[in-house]
Amino acid sequence: MIISELIELTNLGDDRGSLVVLEHNKQVPFNIERVYYIYATEQGVSRGFHAHRELEQIAICVKGQCEMLLDNGQEKQTILLDSPTKAVAINKMVWHEMHNFSDDCVLLVLASDIYDESDYMRNYKAFIEAVNHDS
Ligand code: TYD
Repeated sequence: MIISELIELTNLGDDRGSLVVLEHNKQVPFNIERVYYIYATEQGVSRGFHAHRELEQIAICVKGQCEMLLDNGQEKQTILLDSPTKAVAINKMVWHEMHNFSDDCVLLVLASDIYDESDYMRNYKAFIEAVNHDS
């Protein structure tokens, strides 16, 4: 099952090099309120391990690669982010984990809201109970 389609971004580059744009209401279906990036991840480290109640995000590996595991409580999907032209949406109430970061990985994330710890669900069992209760 597909939880999130891989979004193929257009490379607007020319003979000078590459350029990719992410714009509200085009590639990004929400107002971008926050941007963060994860880099210099230590070998063997995985990150994420949470879902968000309301937050929507788009993730792009602008350098290097990593795997994004998405889990909607029913199915799991792993997406390899290995190109600056590949993006994945992390929708609300989707458990996500990032694994197998390359040493050079820079994972850029666009988010629909500012940081709010109360929006996080960090307990997998509680997440499963919440999605199954709501469905
Ligand atoms: P965390 O959510 O644990 O990262 P991940 O789950 O993606 O591996 O975030 C690590 C720390 O950074 C934690 O103390 C919260 C803080 N943080 C912010 O203050 N603002 C942010 O936008 C993010 C993403 C994290």
